[in-house]
Amino acid sequence: MNSMKWLLDYAYECREIVRSCNFFKVLESTSDPMDVKEWVHQLYYQSRDFTSALSLRHAMCQEPAFQRIFARHALEEVDHCEQLLNWMRKRNFLEANAEPTYVPPTLETQLASAYCFRSILRESYVHQVIAINLISEGVSYDFFTTVAPKLESLGLQPGRYWHAHEEIDQEHLAMGFNLIPVCEPKSSEGQAYAHIVWEMAFLYKHMFDSWTRVSSDRLIPDAPPINYSPELVAT
Ligand SMILES: [Fe+2]
Repeated sequence: MNSMKWLLDYAYECREIVRSCNFFKVLESTSDPMDVKEWVHQLYYQSRDFTSALSLRHAMCQEPAFQRIFARHALEEVDHCEQLLNWMRKRNFLEANAEPTYVPPTLETQLASAYCFRSILRESYVHQVIAINLISEGVSYDFFTTVAPKLESLGLQPGRYWHAHEEIDQEHLAMGFNLIPVCEPKSSEGQAYAHIVWEMAFLYKHMFDSWTRVSSDRLIPDAPPINYSPELVAT
């Protein structure tokens, strides 16, 4: 571990704020297994986009030191979304032939993934390590270690998908941390790094909270009214 412990501590503090959000409070008081169906489709979108982002990050990376860890990370997550879909079907949260996308993602779910994709397309490798490993995987570790026992208590038997995250996300959050240039928290680099931590954590907090406001019965998103204008219709 390099002397960037201050960044690790700050990331942990931000993760604690995410962990104290409304979603986890609602989850704690849940006694109906079907309540899980309300947010598990959102988890599908998050999982699908996150695994895609990891593959894209590896494909775009040109720095051998980063490429090595980006490759390993992408490989270790590659089938996670498929595992989640299998679990959803097993638990009757998704019909055998139904598309998981019949419930639309919340804007907040899309925003958290968009930040990861943007980091890969526009920002430095260090930015990517902070956003995607330190925070995304840290938040993921907190999520899975909290939710898996809850699923167990609801009789939902968390399978391989849930337990795999409990085991490897702690490893994933530390990947690449030693490649972050050492700096003081008050330096301009340090402040920029802390800002990435805050932004990513902020987006995850809002993403989880949006999951308490969705309904799996909402088949189509609320759309703005369409003003029919006949002159625009081709004849
Ligand atoms: Fe992970």
